[in-house]
Amino acid sequence: MEETSISLKPCGIEESIIDLSQITLRPLHLSDLDDVMVWTTDEKVAKFCSWETHTTKDDGINYIERKINNNKNENKKVLWCKAICLNDHAIGFISLSSRSPHDKSRNKSAELGYVLGSKYWGRGIATYVVKQVVKVAFSELSYLERIEAMVDVENVGSQRVLEKAGFQKEGVLRKYVFLKGKSRDMVMFSVLVNDPKV
Ligand SMILES: CC(C)(COP(=O)(O)OP(=O)(O)OC[C@H]1O[C@@H](n2cnc3c(N)ncnc32)[C@H](O)[C@@H]1OP(=O)(O)O)[C@@H](O)C(=O)NCCC(=O)NCCS
Repeated sequence: MEETSISLKPCGIEESIIDLSQITLRPLHLSDLDDVMVWTTDEKVAKFCSWETHTTKDDGINYIERKINNNKNENKKVLWCKAICLNDHAIGFISLSSRSPHDKSRNKSAELGYVLGSKYWGRGIATYVVKQVVKVAFSELSYLERIEAMVDVENVGSQRVLEKAGFQKEGVLRKYVFLKGKSRDMVMFSVLVNDPKV
């Protein structure tokens, strides 16, 4: 934990102080279902995510099982993932995935993804966690040379998180992803293992 600043940002939610040293990362479990349902059923949270807003507990169970079982039925393989916790409640999730899971020697990059319950937005939590995860990833996954993140051009908050965490904006991939009925322009960000801020 490199910094323990306190952030108070208005986001249309009640103001409260969160000491960032209370934020922890740990594996996600099925017992986190009720906490996970809080944010996976929230349309604001799901807006830029690849998954649809959850409507049933089965959706939540499937979501957790996919994460625990390394997204077995999806193209990407989860390399590393953790629940973002406040007082041991899973208030979000962060992961690193590989696009070429079967060829570690050729793929020295990983894609970062993260999500946080809307009640906790605007308090510096995502920035704090992303900074830590970048450090941990480059040390635990020692073959990694690059961590990238693709963000919808309209997802201003997430772009700001990456900039503040030391990622470089590489450019816009036009109509790169078809998601939720629309082709979307995506901003590519990356951080390399030898970048000065890392
Ligand atoms: C994106 C997300 C993770 C940001 O989390 P967060 O904890 O609120 O981010 P932070 O508090 O660390 O904010 C970092 C910066 O972004 C700014 N920011 C956050 N949300 C913003 C928004 N909606 N619009 C404009 N700026 C925003 C903050 O003000 C802060 O900048 P500042 O310090 O210069 O003021 C969160 O909104 C989220 O989970 N969204 C839904 C899922 C998602 O979009 N995931 C990312 C997919 S790529």
